[in-house]
Amino acid sequence: MTTPFLVIGNFKMNQVTRAEAEQYVIVLRREMATVTLSHSRGILCPSFVHLGLYQDLSAGIRLGAQHGFPEKSGAFTGEVSFAQLKDMGVEYVILGHSERRHYFGETDEATRVRLEAALKYLVHPVVCIGETREERQSGKRDALLSKQLETLFRGLPKMQAEKVVVAYEPRWAIGSGEVPTTEEIVSVGTLIRQKLTELFDENTMRRISVVYGGSVKTALLGSVSFEAGMNGVLVGGESLSPYEMVKMLQAAEHFYTD
Ligand code: PGA
Repeated sequence: MTTPFLVIGNFKMNQVTRAEAEQYVIVLRREMATVTLSHSRGILCPSFVHLGLYQDLSAGIRLGAQHGFPEKSGAFTGEVSFAQLKDMGVEYVILGHSERRHYFGETDEATRVRLEAALKYLVHPVVCIGETREERQSGKRDALLSKQLETLFRGLPKMQAEKVVVAYEPRWAIGSGEVPTTEEIVSVGTLIRQKLTELFDENTMRRISVVYGGSVKTALLGSVSFEAGMNGVLVGGESLSPYEMVKMLQAAEHFYTD
């Protein structure tokens, strides 16, 4: 495996108090003290207000954010720029998440603008694509995913494209406890990689990590990722436990060492 297996924790707007965040950090540091990550990488994406608490956590654990604004600085009340995130030690940013699309009307086009800006400030975009339940039932999934990839990637220089992580997150699977079958994820993985090859070339495609997200649990890691040919997972609820986060990383280490 050339790219590390990514376990990306999306905390969303959880951990209300500073004490909760600090407790997470204490437990994670302790649990990671005896763990060496050779094949996997953990990426924690807490709320902006807690980013400072998660810096320099442990070797193999990187810092991520859940959102970012394309302009570097200026009169944009309430926004946080990728340049500011980078300066805080942020290396990854989740973009185009279905909750951003649903509650804040973010489109693929707006996500593309953010993606280019994140790359400019050397933050890796973790760009989410995925179909709704209706789109799945009416057989529109593949056409939709192709169109999303086109909008997000077309015309991007190859050197930039390979820094992006694609997260396949079926919208009906997020927070629902339902997950696609391994076969479905394999088929979507094939579609994404074919599309990326068409937009760039095979070498570039191989450098782009493709991860699965939506109701990921530690116990499901095999069926939704390893066996499905994914390069990692984007995890919401389960990542709020530092113990589960470490278990997922250890499972990846075992899988790629054995
Ligand atoms: P979930 O969230 O794991 O709680 O379903 C995943 C996500 O929204 O990224």
